[in-house]
Amino acid sequence: MITSRKEEQCRSTAHEINDAAEANGTTGRCTNVAADLSEAEGVEHLLTWIRSYHDRIDLLVNNAGTTWGAPLGEFPRIGWTKVLNTNPVAPFDITVGLLPQLRAAARPDRPARIINVGSVDGLVAPEWENYSYSTSKAGLHMLTRHLAKKLASENITVNAIAPGPFLTDMLRHVTADQEQETELLDRVPLGRYGHGDDIVGTVRFLASPAGAFVTAAVIPLDGGLSGCGG
Ligand SMILES: NC(=O)c1ccc[n+]([C@@H]2O[C@H](COP(=O)([O-])OP(=O)(O)OC[C@H]3O[C@@H](n4cnc5c(N)ncnc54)[C@H](OP(=O)(O)O)[C@@H]3O)[C@@H](O)[C@H]2O)c1
Repeated sequence: MITSRKEEQCRSTAHEINDAAEANGTTGRCTNVAADLSEAEGVEHLLTWIRSYHDRIDLLVNNAGTTWGAPLGEFPRIGWTKVLNTNPVAPFDITVGLLPQLRAAARPDRPARIINVGSVDGLVAPEWENYSYSTSKAGLHMLTRHLAKKLASENITVNAIAPGPFLTDMLRHVTADQEQETELLDRVPLGRYGHGDDIVGTVRFLASPAGAFVTAAVIPLDGGLSGCGG
């Protein structure tokens, strides 16, 4: 089940996933719903939809995220509320709202999994003026550890992935400016953007039997950016 605000984009992604599943002979099918997770009503809409289909959930990935950039003296309050509501508050509300379904799936030898998508910007202070974003992702990392501690006895693991630069819509503005892109990649010891396979591999590890003993981890997936001093 996937969600985002843009219904058409979400639907076409679900179709893409289903075409691939059919080609591979996989039995599961992807469904989609539009919801604005920065609003309590949007989160409730998503939860109602999921609960109407499933009484058990093996894996919850809190991936939706947003950012805001503005100079220090001009950073508006809306740049805080929008980013905080989407990045740490929605994952918290969704996790709490789906606890009965996660508990129903959780077993000692096969825990239910929660994966939060944080950011390298929550590990080291960024070069860009995205103050609410870095704060929100550092908060999401701590929320991950706090929930992991609380839910471990119920066989639910909670981990975060902290990506470095990946060339998605969030970073499109960088490619428009050659100087900015060079500056960014110069900070990454491995000298490149993250690829789809990089994130897929990490999610697969955390969701698979190999990841069953991992909880409260914040895994940097950043080509060495945070570990080598930012
Ligand atoms: N790209 C990077 O370099 C990078 C680095 C570190 C961390 N991350 C994190 O990775 C995650 C995925 O981001 P991305 O790189 O794939 O960027 P993206 O292309 O901008 O994707 C963001 C996703 O979140 C959804 N979203 C945003 N606001 C939403 C809202 N209010 N309600 C529901 N869905 C919402 C977007 O869909 P709609 O617009 O349709 O709502 C989109 O699917 C985010 O948490 C981001 O912070 C990315």
